[in-house]
Amino acid sequence: MSKLTFKGRVAIVTGAGGSTGLGRAHARLLAERGAKIVVNDIGVSRDGISGASADAEAVVAEIIASGGEAIADLNSVADEDGAKSIVKAALDAWGRVDILINNATIGARAGFDEITSADIERIIGVNLMGSIWMCRAVWPHMLEARFGRIVNTTSGGMMGMPLVTAYGAAKFGMFGLTRGLATEGAEHNIKVNAVSPGAATNSVGRFLSFSDPEMLDRYRNDLPAELVSPVFGYLAHETCAVSGTLLHAAGGSVSARLIGATKGIRDPQLTIEDVRDNLSAIFDDTGLSIITDPKCPYDAANDTVANTMVAVPYRGE
Ligand SMILES: NC(=O)c1ccc[n+]([C@@H]2O[C@H](COP(=O)([O-])OP(=O)(O)OC[C@H]3O[C@@H](n4cnc5c(N)ncnc54)[C@H](O)[C@@H]3O)[C@@H](O)[C@H]2O)c1
Repeated sequence: MSKLTFKGRVAIVTGAGGSTGLGRAHARLLAERGAKIVVNDIGVSRDGISGASADAEAVVAEIIASGGEAIADLNSVADEDGAKSIVKAALDAWGRVDILINNATIGARAGFDEITSADIERIIGVNLMGSIWMCRAVWPHMLEARFGRIVNTTSGGMMGMPLVTAYGAAKFGMFGLTRGLATEGAEHNIKVNAVSPGAATNSVGRFLSFSDPEMLDRYRNDLPAELVSPVFGYLAHETCAVSGTLLHAAGGSVSARLIGATKGIRDPQLTIEDVRDNLSAIFDDTGLSIITDPKCPYDAANDTVANTMVAVPYRGE
């Protein structure tokens, strides 16, 4: 089998300046396979709560030293104009943008009643809004090129984890962004997927610490960022065969996270009590159907009512 390459492709990786970070590993892998990379990162602890030490220029230097092509960008993804500037940097340097990896993050571990409102806004601002602004900034160029690959980085926290609720909400929001854009991009050869990673990076220290140093060593050995990047690489490649999916990747293991629908119940006279009395039938996963491809509700094949639905034109202000 021939190796997959990214020759002629231009990729933006946000938050890729961390010395141990996933973004750096993705940027290096894509560059090694021929992509030109915008290494974006706001820099050393500029966001205050991330505690991350980041240097986009240093990652660019590493890529160039290995024979690759890259430029650094220090704009914030949390700002719409910042996101536009990141995309402009790619266009100014190489005239195109084919791949976007939304990786930038900040987070904090605190109870929902403990975390400050300002920190909630910043967490949503970088993770969710940052990804939205980045997708908005690349979207017209991908539509015009009739090609694009976007990979959004979610987290196990999206499934519910104590003390990271705002972060988890932002990450689940990124999955909604992934699903919606996968439907909108389908007819334009734009594929949008999400990955929930696990890797021993500096950022994990913001959330967890180890009481046993031996376990910390094992964790670092077992979960290098480099074992997550191939999943991002595949989803960013022109031959990627899926869109709207969520994969989990850590330490060399890769699995799919699926949305399932139970058969449930149907009662034209449904009451509150019916819901109470039928919980086991509602949650019975016998015959669970997996919702894989994101779908437009009014394209539902055999649903006669859905087939009569027509989109109301948007009247934006
Ligand atoms: N490491 C893990 O096990 C793990 C687990 C779940 C999810 N994730 C996700 O993977 C991604 C990478 O995580 P990581 O562990 O490598 O984190 P990291 O902290 O090493 O990297 C994130 C980078 O984002 C940068 N950044 C912060 N705000 C920014 C902004 N406004 N604009 C541009 N850059 C900004 C930071 O400076 C930092 O270098 C994140 O999306 C994270 O939520 C990681």
